[in-house]
Amino acid sequence: MHTIKYELAQGIATITFDEEGSPVNTMCEQWQKELTEVTAQVVKDKDAIKGILLASNKSTFFAGADLKGTMRLQASDAPRVFREIEQTKKNFRTLETLGKPVVSCLNGTALGGGWEVALVGHYRVAVDNPKIQFGLPEITLGLIPGASGITKMTRLLGLLGAQPYIIEAKLFSPAQALELGLVHELVHDAGDLRAAALAWIDRHASGDAPAHHPWDDKNYKMPGGTPSNPKIAGMLSVAPAVLRHKTRGLYPAPEYALAAMVEGAQVDFDTALRIESRYLAKLIVSPVAKNMINTFFFNMNAIKSGQSRPKDVPRYKPQKVGILGAGMMGGGIAYVQASRGLPTVLRDVTLEKAQAGKNYSVKITQPRVEQGRMNPHDQAELLARITPSESVQALQGCDLIIEAVFENRELKARVTQEAEPMLAPGGFFASNTSTLPITGLAKASKRPEKFVGIHFFSPVDKMKLVEIIRGKQTDDETVARAFDYVQSIGKIPIVVNDSRGFFTSRVFGTFVMEGAAMIGEGIPAAVVEQAGIQAGMPVGPLAVLDETALSLSVHVLDQTRTDYRAEGGTYIATPGELLVERMVKEFDRNGRAAGGGFYEYPKEAGAKKFLWPQLKTLFERPDAQWNLQELKDRLLYRQAVETARCLAENVLTTVHDANIGSIFGIGFPGWTGGAMQFIYGTGIDAFFHRAEVLAGKYGNGFAVSPAVKDAVRRFEPRYET
Ligand SMILES: NC(=O)c1ccc[n+]([C@@H]2O[C@H](COP(=O)([O-])OP(=O)(O)OC[C@H]3O[C@@H](n4cnc5c(N)ncnc54)[C@H](O)[C@@H]3O)[C@@H](O)[C@H]2O)c1
Repeated sequence: MHTIKYELAQGIATITFDEEGSPVNTMCEQWQKELTEVTAQVVKDKDAIKGILLASNKSTFFAGADLKGTMRLQASDAPRVFREIEQTKKNFRTLETLGKPVVSCLNGTALGGGWEVALVGHYRVAVDNPKIQFGLPEITLGLIPGASGITKMTRLLGLLGAQPYIIEAKLFSPAQALELGLVHELVHDAGDLRAAALAWIDRHASGDAPAHHPWDDKNYKMPGGTPSNPKIAGMLSVAPAVLRHKTRGLYPAPEYALAAMVEGAQVDFDTALRIESRYLAKLIVSPVAKNMINTFFFNMNAIKSGQSRPKDVPRYKPQKVGILGAGMMGGGIAYVQASRGLPTVLRDVTLEKAQAGKNYSVKITQPRVEQGRMNPHDQAELLARITPSESVQALQGCDLIIEAVFENRELKARVTQEAEPMLAPGGFFASNTSTLPITGLAKASKRPEKFVGIHFFSPVDKMKLVEIIRGKQTDDETVARAFDYVQSIGKIPIVVNDSRGFFTSRVFGTFVMEGAAMIGEGIPAAVVEQAGIQAGMPVGPLAVLDETALSLSVHVLDQTRTDYRAEGGTYIATPGELLVERMVKEFDRNGRAAGGGFYEYPKEAGAKKFLWPQLKTLFERPDAQWNLQELKDRLLYRQAVETARCLAENVLTTVHDANIGSIFGIGFPGWTGGAMQFIYGTGIDAFFHRAEVLAGKYGNGFAVSPAVKDAVRRFEPRYET
């Protein structure tokens, strides 16, 4: 056998998972087959068996489903998947109902299918290490825990109690598992697992009832009650609506999981397992699951493992980082660094301003301290890591200096020249600009090869993405160090090449401007916002324009016109840009910070924002016609086309940077798997066809040139074994 080792000695059958040639154990086809063989062997050996141990020869216990295999599934594979998953669960059932005590020896992490394997043991012993993770993250990949996870967790914790662990995919440590009753004993060290397991088997053997799970006890009652309990029934009558509100109908997995929990709670255990299998088989071949697995598993791993990081540069960790400009961004970056233990110098033109930037960290941590979620000592340590200053000299000895002053070329050049000499030997300089090309800014630097873009998003403490921009002269070492720095503060780095708006700002601009263009066509603003929400964007395009300031968009537009002119060309503004320009220049609607934009922001406490009523009289046309699906398509296709253009132009060099960057930087909907996966998930030809139709109706923004088509095909991901 290649994935499982079976050994029977002194009455103890040990089933050890050890997938050949793989760092982790997965439920690959081979494993499924071998589990059936091992189970048959256990049945044969029954009379000689006193107890059964489930163990792992890897550093983790079991990783779960074979996701590469999943990516290759076609819709027509659903019946086969159903049969396979049923067979695996039949094996689980055979082992756990044999009348012999089964113990899971959890030496390391057990997630998804791995946790479902762990749940086969009547008794579960785990190593007490807070780094070990248990749980069912399937929902985050568009799947459900269909290898008995839903049925068992619901029967262990109840319909209410199990929800966070199934529907919200909440993970837990061994210590938390013990508290929840999901693990029965903790040991200090993996070497102690076997002895603890054998001791339990001995203790158990002296009892009278054969080993069994709670749900196989004839007196079993579901914790909290079944759906026939009026309290549970009351909750269940609203739960689907609450869930639907969250998923907007775009994510089938949590809805299926809830259905499987509730339906399964009303039938016997084996029927419940079958219900679960049906839902899983349907989901696992669905486009949304593939999109999400592609991106949240494979693409995320590509980033974590540094596939976009230049190779052959040693790992790097800065010891002290300086920030120029203690405004919204500078204050946020200082907080993130300090919360990760990184000594930070925060410099602004006056000490007062620098202090104000540091105060942002107080503002974030104080409520936590007051609610008892943060220890005052930890808060004090965090704050002590930030040194506010008005002096450039305070930056002396920093390994990295990031400028986050106003978006102004001359100012950025000046602060670069002032601060660069303060860098420690071998240090590097970064700009947090959101729009200005890095190659141009690097001209102010004495060492442009040590100058890079590190583009944070607002609010810095919440937004996980950081876009690293390689200027024309930036060297590999600097890109690699920027990458390591970003990972060291717990953020997700993507690496892009220099161009106007880089990747994220450029694509983000197409989203909001497509929304603004719709206003220009006379479509009601509320409809435009709904289209954004229903497509799965976090907020509508007009609301985002207000947040980021319409005036900023106009400032960027003016700058772009100037730059084109300087290069001897003429910039032709899009209909959306022209509309936003009118909002600012004609109607003085600059955005939320300036008092109002597409929305009004009433000052009274608790009052909600509402769409600026004048939009109706100024722009709405009574004869305007629209189709909501087409509006949704426009918002997503426009961004996907621009992303594909970035790939074709070498602004982006990988699909994983595109997908992860679009989801975590722009808010491109997770169900699509990101802006490139949206194309692949739709089907390349179907996408091109629809884009062509949209280009015919709404202009060149949707046009896909032969070079872009070529890039889309060239970068298509493959999932070979
Ligand atoms: N706001 C965003 O959403 C966002 C997102 C990503 C990137 N950015 C970029 O980050 C940079 C800063 O943006 P912000 O929103 O934090 O601006 P901000 O106006 O909040 O802060 C800028 C700060 O720089 C300070 N400053 C000016 N001259 C200085 C000097 N010579 N030395 C030190 N400090 C000086 C100002 O006093 C101010 O406190 C800009 O380049 C912007 O494009 C902004």
